[in-house]
Amino acid sequence: MRFHRLNGHEVNEFIIMKLGGSIITYKNRWMPTLNKDNLKRLAKEIGEAWSERKDLALILIHGAGSYGHVLATLYKILKENEYERRLLGFAEIQRLQNELNAKVCAELQNYHVPAVPVQASASAVLENEKLVHMDVKAIEGMLHVGLVPVLYGVPAYDKKLGGGILSGDEIMRHLAKHLEPDRLVHVSDVDGIYDKDPKKSKDAKLIKEITRDNLKQVLEVLGGSSYFDVTGGMVRKIEELMELEGIVAEIINGNREGYVRRALLGEVGLGTVIRS
Ligand code: ADP
Ligand code: IPE
Repeated sequence: MRFHRLNGHEVNEFIIMKLGGSIITYKNRWMPTLNKDNLKRLAKEIGEAWSERKDLALILIHGAGSYGHVLATLYKILKENEYERRLLGFAEIQRLQNELNAKVCAELQNYHVPAVPVQASASAVLENEKLVHMDVKAIEGMLHVGLVPVLYGVPAYDKKLGGGILSGDEIMRHLAKHLEPDRLVHVSDVDGIYDKDPKKSKDAKLIKEITRDNLKQVLEVLGGSSYFDVTGGMVRKIEELMELEGIVAEIINGNREGYVRRALLGEVGLGTVIRS
């Protein structure tokens, strides 16, 4: 999609970037715990790239990490007769995500990024946790204006399940399908996709590129997340990215200083590149 900004700036590149819960929170904690240092540094890097590139259109998405997965797991295992309790859980997890989103947006605004909270679940309809409807008109309009919409993984209405978890990765797939960005970037806490979970095997080897040619082999060796994660971890990320045609996606390590900035400035090849 091409944008012509209201302020006259031409947009040459449109990127959707997701900050994984593994990088902005301490994902292995039981209680919601923000990784303040990472969030501050990443917001600074995004702010630097944003001020350098007047030709960039940007949507940010963030994950839930310890603000969502543990609670979502606990509520999922509640039995049918605890329906009322589950409803309360849905509401509570949503509220926690909004709190996390407010912190993310505040930090981005500190670095002069016009970051606008956008709650996907206000218009999202899921079917077995697959997003089948979400309004994108307002988001598209925000991009024309020059704002940076910031969406995030949330509980959402599900036609089949009543309530389900809408992951940030699934939001990315939906937005990419409807708004046709040039590039997708996942910021996680590993250098990319390996032939084994690098947190568990020291001899895991980084795969620099995934295409249709090696996809089958990669999916065979891929694991989920090494953390508490109700949304499928790395396997689902790759499957969702491969559903999109003709968009270059990349998984990079947000723990490496400068990588987010460099990716936003146009560098490709910092992690694992996925060409669908
Ligand atoms: P995020 O919260 O950043 O969206 P996830 O928690 O869903 O990310 O997935 C990231 C985690 O996936 C990493 O911390 C890593 O330990 C784990 N993982 C499992 N298998 C692999 C693999 N083959 N390659 C890379 N990471 C893997
Ligand atoms: C999960 O979103 C949302 C909830 C559990 C409420 P994500 O699946 O995108 O979060 P991370 O990045 O894996 O933590």
